[in-house]
Order: sequence, then C-alpha cells, then structure tokens
Amino acid sequence: MKDKLILGIETSCDETSAAIVKNGRTLLSEVTSTQIDIHRIYGGVVPEIASRNHLQMLPYVVAEALEKADLTIDDIDAVGVTYGPGLVGALLVGLSYAKALAYASKKTLIGVHHIKGHIAANYLQYPTLEPPFLGLVVSGGHTNIVHVRDYCDIVTLGKTIDDAAGEAYDKVARVLGFPYPGGPEIDAHAKNGRGDEIAFPRVMLEHESLDFSFSGLKSAVLNYLNSMDMKNIEVNPDDVSASFQEAVIDVLVAKIQLAAKKTRIKTIALSGGVAANSRLKERMTEMAQDNGYMLYIPQPKYCTDNASMIASCAYYELMCGNIADIYLNAVANLPLG
Ligand code: KG4
Ligand code: ZN
Repeated sequence: MKDKLILGIETSCDETSAAIVKNGRTLLSEVTSTQIDIHRIYGGVVPEIASRNHLQMLPYVVAEALEKADLTIDDIDAVGVTYGPGLVGALLVGLSYAKALAYASKKTLIGVHHIKGHIAANYLQYPTLEPPFLGLVVSGGHTNIVHVRDYCDIVTLGKTIDDAAGEAYDKVARVLGFPYPGGPEIDAHAKNGRGDEIAFPRVMLEHESLDFSFSGLKSAVLNYLNSMDMKNIEVNPDDVSASFQEAVIDVLVAKIQLAAKKTRIKTIALSGGVAANSRLKERMTEMAQDNGYMLYIPQPKYCTDNASMIASCAYYELMCGNIADIYLNAVANLPLG
C-alpha cells in the first residue's frame, strides 16, 4: 500500500501544534508553539487568550511543519484535527483552519478525539505496540482507564467523577505558590520531600470501582495548609508535594492494577501530561514488574499535548474509514465511548 502522510493539527488547550506522520508510526516533523509563558502570568489557561494565540500562530506552525519535512500540502493525504474535548474556542480555531485547508487543497478531513490522540502517542514511541491493551490517560482534563480493543474501538472502563489528576496537581501547586503548570513543579519538589509525612486520603470509591475522585484530596491539602497557617506552623512544601503525589499515585496504580486483573489484559500504555511524572513512571514500572505486565510510557514530549499524536491517531481513523466533512463541529465535552 502507498504510504499515507497525515498532517495533524492540535489546538485544544494551550499548545498550537502541527505535525506530519507517515503511516501512523513515523514522525517526519512537528512544530509546537507553547503558550505556557503567556498563561503563567494568570496562574492558569485563559480560554480567550488561548484562542487568540492559536489564531495568530497556527498558519506559521503548519507552514513550518511542512517545510521541516520538506513537503508541500500537495504531498499530504489527509488533515487530522482535534475536534474535542477541550476549550471550545481553542478547538474552533484549529478545526476551522483544518477544514479550510482540507477544502481548499482537496484533502480528506479527519476529526480526532483528543484522548484517543493521547493514547496514540504510544504508537509513535513503540512501533510494535498493537491493540488490545489497557490505557491509563492522565492529563490536565482527563483521567481515564480505557480498554483499547482495536485502533478505533476504545471502551472507557473508568474515569474521574470530579477533578482530573493533572487538575489536582495544578490546583495544589497553585496553593503552594508554584507557577503554572503545577505538575512538573510538584514532581520536582517531591524529590526533596517525604511522601509519608502527611496522611492525605486515597479515595478508592466503592469496591472494585475503576472510577476516580481527586477533589477530596485537593480539599484535604487545602485544609491541611489552612490549619497549619492558623496554628502558625511552617509547612515544608516539598513534604506536602511528595505526600500529595504519593496519594494520587497510590490510587492510579491501584486502579490500573485492578483493571488488569479484571480484564486479564497484561499490556498497559500510559499517556497524557501526568504520564511525564517521574514518580508515576517509577511506581508503574515496579507494579508492572511485580505482576509480569508489559508497560509502555511515551517520552515526556509525547505525553503533553502535541500534534504528532493527533496525526498518528488520524491515520488509524482513516484506515477505519472514519472520515469527516466540512460540517464537523467542535465539541467541548466530546464523549469517548
Ligand atoms: O496532556 P496535557 O498536556 O493537556 C491536557 O490534555 O490536559 O496535560 C497537562 C497536564 C497539566 O495538568 C500538567 O500539570 C500535567 O499534565 N503535567 C504533569 C507533569 N508534566 C505535566 N503532572 C505531573 N508531573 C509532571 N511531570
Ligand atoms: Zn491533552
């Protein structure tokens, strides 16, 4: 079969990204313009500012991705774009651009689910990984355990009923006075702290549940900080970071282990921004070794938002015949299935 070259576009949050991937597995180029420094001033992502910056940067990012791969739009087979979930204004910028580009250049348009994109990051990193496997997607907006039955057949086994894991990291980091995004800050501070210093709750929900809840943990950290403040006791941010992080990771590890036991699937692929966390990688590796599971974790640049994973996912959607048309709309809370 002739090689398929996909141009991927991602603008669901605060990264403006374009990438070209061959046959879903080989990255030819990626250009990502991050807005982190802009949003840091406000302590988090400001949706309107994100949309405006996507609009400004996207034409350059796409042009540069093509140039880096030494290609023109004529060489591309299809344009894959994130159409949800995410910030609706931010999604609309990428989607409108992708629709116009595909229409004007007579290319196939493919709508990509952002979480499916995160899962596909593993295909770029591990050329031999194939479904079926279990996925743990942990990002700023999502915490999902999924059964990847086939490339286009993904079933959610569990998800957060309130905050996402990354959201909890960001909120706790904020009250500790760390800059946005908080995840990498807590990761770094926790290395100098004691994870068993403060007993924060591990919310497992009902017996055998694969769902998550992180809002209680976030409140427990806030309450702890407030009560220490009222007693005029100085807290050690490194210990708070490490103790919070152990609580999050205990739950993530326990739940994915439970999912593996329930489904008897022995292959686990992590993805999403929080999968870049050094302690999570350490704990997951230990758990996988103890149980004889195969574990896949993308390198950090494929964990956080990027268009390479969107282009990879779009290739499999194309192979499954999931093609979009000019009426494709952005869906802020697009369900996974
Ligand atoms: O996947 P992503 O780039 O965007 C979403 O789809 O949400 O994930 C961003 C999230 C943020 O909450 C950020 O704090 C978190 O991933 N994150 C981390 C680390 N690096 C990024 N969390 C914990 N440890 C890290 N090293
Ligand atoms: Zn993401």
